[in-house]
Amino acid sequence: MIQSDLKQKQETDLARESAKNWEKHWAKVSAAGKPMFASGIWGGFKKFLQRAGSGALISKIIRTEIGDSSEGYVLEAGCGTGYLGLQMARSGRKTVLLDVSPSALAYAGSEANRLELKPPRVKGSVFHLPFKDAVFSGTFNVGVLDHFGQQGRKNAALEMLRVTKPQGKVTIVTNDVRSYVHPYAMKYAADRGRWPFGFKAAISSLQAEIPDLLKDYDVNEYSRGFLSQFEFGHYFLPPMGALKALFFGTFYFCTWPFAFLNRFAGQYLVTVIKKGDS
Ligand SMILES: C[S@@+](CC[C@H](N)C(=O)[O-])C[C@H]1O[C@@H](n2cnc3c(N)ncnc32)[C@H](O)[C@@H]1O
Repeated sequence: MIQSDLKQKQETDLARESAKNWEKHWAKVSAAGKPMFASGIWGGFKKFLQRAGSGALISKIIRTEIGDSSEGYVLEAGCGTGYLGLQMARSGRKTVLLDVSPSALAYAGSEANRLELKPPRVKGSVFHLPFKDAVFSGTFNVGVLDHFGQQGRKNAALEMLRVTKPQGKVTIVTNDVRSYVHPYAMKYAADRGRWPFGFKAAISSLQAEIPDLLKDYDVNEYSRGFLSQFEFGHYFLPPMGALKALFFGTFYFCTWPFAFLNRFAGQYLVTVIKKGDS
């Protein structure tokens, strides 16, 4: 097998493995049937307490980058259970949820019903988005491209750029090499057979990784999540419900006053690619 074929096979294997691992994970989450968003006073309190966690940080980043104008459709390409896409839809943005995992889309659908929302849900791959060119005012994903190799990331970014309108933005959030905790937590869990997601890269700069693709675009890249990286500490614990709940409770209780520390480099690399006029 020649070098480029071998590389292509590795990329295809990584993409296939990621889809398989996530489907397995989302099938379990979906079967547990727990509602994703708590409501009422309890929901408000939980949201406040968890303000230094990854969920709050990522929601804020995506809201800031995508904006809340009601103009045009936004695509989340690798939406998982729709934690982010449904928040966008709830705030009035027309959002399309796409994922390879049928279980994730089914769960996102039942959560959407609960919230009385009807965002289109599409089963598909970020490598072959089933849409015409330039139909979305923005596209984004979080934690998807880090499960692929360099060429896979490039292909996925190219596809997201293709379906984004001129002047629109592609926002890609990946696992950042500046996170100290994540690699140790991942290795610790993997050595004990408790890491269900397979390969996950840590990236220092997507712009530096695929300069040939991004050289003609206006790119803004930054790192966030100094504090939220410590949330991954739960992978050091055995998978016992009570212990994990204690960990998360303690983490959120101790960190909520320090959410501002997430403005410093840490868990997430955010790459925002702005399309020009064509
Ligand atoms: C880290 S999860 C995303 C979680 C999501 N941001 C959320 O908040 O629930 C990564 C997602 O990428 C999806 N995925 C994996 N390979 C994909 C592909 N080729 N195309 C689209 N989605 C893919 C997985 O099914 C999974 O839902």
